[in-house]
Amino acid sequence: MQEKVIVVSGGASGIGAEVSARLASEGARIVIADLNVARAESHTALTITCDITNPDQCEAVAQAAMNAFGRIDGVVNCAGISKPHDSISLPPADWSRMVDVQLNGAFYFIQACAKRMVDSGGAIVFITSTNAEAAFPRRAAYCCAKAGVAMLTKVLAIEWAEKGIRVNAVGPAYVATEMTKRNIAAGNVNEPQIKARIPLGRLAQPADVADAVSFLLSNKASFITGQSLYVDGGWLAYGYF
Ligand SMILES: NC(=O)c1ccc[n+]([C@@H]2O[C@H](COP(=O)([O-])OP(=O)(O)OC[C@H]3O[C@@H](n4cnc5c(N)ncnc54)[C@H](O)[C@@H]3O)[C@@H](O)[C@H]2O)c1
Repeated sequence: MQEKVIVVSGGASGIGAEVSARLASEGARIVIADLNVARAESHTALTITCDITNPDQCEAVAQAAMNAFGRIDGVVNCAGISKPHDSISLPPADWSRMVDVQLNGAFYFIQACAKRMVDSGGAIVFITSTNAEAAFPRRAAYCCAKAGVAMLTKVLAIEWAEKGIRVNAVGPAYVATEMTKRNIAAGNVNEPQIKARIPLGRLAQPADVADAVSFLLSNKASFITGQSLYVDGGWLAYGYF
C-alpha cells in the first residue's frame, strides 16, 4: 500500500475506520468521506463530509483527492445503514433511503472515483454482506440492495477490466461494530443465537474484514476481479439444522 491513495466512504466508524487504520499502517494515504467525520481518526490524510447519496458530493470528494494527491489508486465503499423493519408496514421513505444509501450511493461514490482512475487503473472494493446471498426477515431493502451491489461488482469488473480497474466485494456476516451493537440493543439481533449459527463460533472482528479488503486492493489479488469474498466464519456454507 506504500504511497497508494485510497478513498474510503464510511471511514469514520466501524469497518471503514478499521480498513482506514489498516491501510494507513501499510503506508497508504487515506481520504475519508463520511456523513459524520467527527470521529475520523488522525491517521487520515484528508477527511471530507459527504453523503454518498448525493452524486455532487461524491464528485467533490474524488476531486479533492485528486487536488491533494494527483491520483486515486483504490476505493473502498464502507458507508452504510441498517434499519430492520417488518415489510408489511415498512414506510416507502425507509425503503427508498436504504436503497439510496446501500445501492445508489455505492454506485455514485465508486463512479466518481473511477472517473479519475481510468488512465492509471486501480482497485475497488465494495462492502456487501452475507445478505447479498442469504435472506433475513425484516431486511427486505437491505438484502435487495446488497444483492444489487454484488451484481454491480460483476458488471463493473467486466466493464472496467480494459481500464485496469479491478472490482471486488467483501461480504461479512455480523461484525462487532457500532451498527451491530445498535442492532443488539434494539432487539433486532440475538448475539448468542448468532454465534451459535456461525460455524467458527464468534462474530467477525473489523480486522477480519480489513484483512480481506487489504488483500483485494493489493497486487497479490492482481488476477482477481468480479468476485465476492465472504468473511463469514462459514455462515453461507452452513446448511444443516
Ligand atoms: N456490522 C455488521 O455486522 C455488518 C455486516 C455485514 C455488512 N456490513 C456493512 O458494512 C458497512 C459498514 O458497516 P459498519 O458496521 O462499519 O457500520 P457503522 O455504523 O459502524 O459505520 C458506518 C459509517 O457509514 C457512515 N454513513 C452512513 N450513511 C452514510 C452516507 N449516506 N454517506 C456517507 N457516510 C455514511 C456513518 O456515518 C458511519 O461512519 C455497511 O454497508 C454495512 O451494511 C456490516
